Parts: sequence; C-alpha cells; structure tokens
Amino acid sequence: MTYTQKFHLIAPHGGTLINRVLTGDAHAEKSDYAATLEKIYLSEINLADLEMISNGALSPLNGYMGSADYQSVVRDMRLANGLPWSIPVTLAVSTEQADRIKIGQEVALVERREDGDHILAILEVSDKYTYDRETEAREVYKTTESAHPGVARLYKQGDVLLGGDIWLLEYPQRVTREFADLRYTPTQTRSIFTERNWRRVVGFQTRNPIHRAHEYIQKTALEIVDGLLLHPLVGETKSDDISAAVRVESYEAIVSAYYPASRVLLAAFPAAMRYAGPREAIFHAIARKNYGCSHFIVGRDHAGVGKYYGSYDAHYIFDQFEPEEIGITPLFFEHTFFCRKCGSVVSAKTCPHESSDHVVLSGTQVREMLSRGEDLPVEFTRPEVSQILMRGVQQRVVEQ
Ligand code: ADX
Repeated sequence: MTYTQKFHLIAPHGGTLINRVLTGDAHAEKSDYAATLEKIYLSEINLADLEMISNGALSPLNGYMGSADYQSVVRDMRLANGLPWSIPVTLAVSTEQADRIKIGQEVALVERREDGDHILAILEVSDKYTYDRETEAREVYKTTESAHPGVARLYKQGDVLLGGDIWLLEYPQRVTREFADLRYTPTQTRSIFTERNWRRVVGFQTRNPIHRAHEYIQKTALEIVDGLLLHPLVGETKSDDISAAVRVESYEAIVSAYYPASRVLLAAFPAAMRYAGPREAIFHAIARKNYGCSHFIVGRDHAGVGKYYGSYDAHYIFDQFEPEEIGITPLFFEHTFFCRKCGSVVSAKTCPHESSDHVVLSGTQVREMLSRGEDLPVEFTRPEVSQILMRGVQQRVVEQ
C-alpha cells in the first residue's frame, strides 16, 4: 500500500485564515483618505491585537468586537455566532472621543512614534457601546481586585468601546524593530510546517525564560508529534516580568544547543499578556491553532498571576467545550520539577520521593538569587540561561 504525502494542517478557528492587510491599489487609495479621519491613539495591547487581527492570528476576528460578541464572550465564552472565544478583544476610547464618532463612520487607528503619528489602520465603526468593567473583571479574570494586572489595565481604559472591522495600512513599528526575524505570521508558520512535513505540531506559550521543567514538558510533548512551535510572547507584560529580550535570548541559547533544528521552530507571539489564567489558556490555544498547531501545552497555572487561579483551572476550563469546537488538542501537564533522587525532571505523578528531594524555586527566590549574583541551580535551569538572566538583572539595575 502507498501513502499519499498530501496532508492538511488544522483549519483556522472558524474555518478561514483572516487577512486584513491592505495592499496594492486599495492601499494607495486608502492611505491619503485615512489622513482625513478622526484619530484614535492605540495602547500597547491595542497594537498587539491589531497586528494579530491583521495577520489572522485572531481568526475569525476581522476587527475589534461589537457589543453582541463582547457580551456573549464575557458571559458565555462564545462569539455571538456560537464559536468558542474566551477573551474580549476591544478598543476603548473616552466618552468625549466617542461622542465625536458616529456608527457607520471610519476612523484612523494611530501609533505614536518618536518621529510623529503614523496611521496604521482604518476602523469601520459598526458599534459603539458602554460596558460594565466589574462584570468583565469578574467573568474573565475571576476577580474584581485592581491588584490583578489585567484588571488594573481594564479599569484604566476608556468608558466606551468601539467595534468594527479594520483594514491595516501599516504594521506597528515593533514588527520591523523587535524580533523581526522571529515574527512569523500564521501564513508563514503554516507554510514552514508544511515544508517540513509536520502534520502534528505542538505549540508552547511562555512569558518566562526557559527552565528545566519547560524543557521537559516541551520535549515530552514533542515525542508524540512531528514538530514543536516555541512561541514566547513578546507583547506587553507586567513590569516585574522578565523582559521579552531576555526571554527570547534564553530560548535562542537553549534551542541552538539542546534542540534538533529540524523539529523546532522558535517564533515570537505578538500578544500582550492578560494574566486571565484559564480564560487566557483557551485564547492562547485558539491563537496557536491559527498558527497551524494541532496540539497545545497547558501546564501548571497557565497564564496565571498571584493566587488568583487554582493550579489546574486552566486544564478544567477545556471541559466546558466539546473538543471538536476548540479543534486544537490541549496537552495537560502537572507541576514538574527536578528530583535529586530520580535524577530527572518529574511530577507528583511520576516521583515517589519527598519534597525535600525536589528542586522547586519560586519567581521571588529566583530574583533574589540573581540580585545577589548567585548562579541558579543547574537542576532548575541550564547554566547558559542562568548567565543570561544574571546579565539581564545587572542591566536592569544599571538602567534603574
Ligand atoms: S505563562 O503565563 O506563559 O503560562 P510560563 O512561561 O511560566 O507562564 O509558562 C509557560 C507554560 O509552561 C504554561 O503552559 C505553564 O502552565 C507551563 N509551566 C510553567 N512552569 C511549569 C512547571 N514547573 N510545571 C508544569 N508546567 C509548567
């Protein structure tokens, strides 16, 4: 029997990979016109969402959510058409600005740069609505405390949301300035997976430098699929997270030394962190489906912060959907760590030893050791990463 080489990667969420980038005549025609429109200045998270709406990473979204999608996502984790979607993707403006804008009007979405304003996109305003921040906080973030970084951002944003489709004229400046060689679009990752003949690809989300537990779960997952998309997030994070530059540098060092190049693609994920824990795990999984991943790793306290979520809430939330409506298959991992008696990375599922044999360090402990100039234990992270982190901490002290 012969097997055909032809295969299809997983379909994007909703069936079609969205592309909202204007090119050619349409671009030329709209550019001058855009300069005549009311300007809306984009925040960091708006810029990240704009990049991802435009390149299809947030398919099936064509723009910022209108009220029907917003309400349905907040309350039921679904778009108004029933498709699973867990995080609002919205554009907030002040009441004064909203009063100047009519439904049906087009507005310019603008990035402020050192050399002045740049119009990045046109928004076709099809909805304009007020919303209840506390309801969004409670439903999406599971807390109304402003100590939560995602909730704090929500509480600071404008009082009115504008919904509507966007058309991109120009990507945000970061696309050519930051991690430009790693910023593969979903179209590009899909074509790389196809060229490499990877039928089953596991995606890995991270906002941290790579440590041994990460490496363990990535490689364990890779054992059962064809390829691994290492996808560190490079959008906005809270100020005490390790910077994207250090995060990516740690990945570059470890991937080149310890991962087979033919099985791994390191790429930058443009999203901003919301810290919405379980809800964000669904969002992260759906975005990676759009990048062409068939599987997605969800470990311990995925996208969590502080003590707002249970360690495995980001696993349990997948039970609220039928597997086929999410499409991408989550691979769940328990808390893993190095065990000195086992001599390997383990979890409570695989190791019988006492916690005194386990090397578990909190983020605070790591920061304290680095600020004292101490190398991190090799059982926790590889020496290459320890050195990169140390340089990062020293650099930060110099900059402060
Ligand atoms: S996250 O905010 O992007 O989730 P982080 O970069 O720490 O934070 O985690 C990336 C992924 O690895 C997540 O799926 C997380 O659940 C998982 N993870 C991180 N550390 C561990 C660990 N020690 N054991 C199991 N899973 C982990």
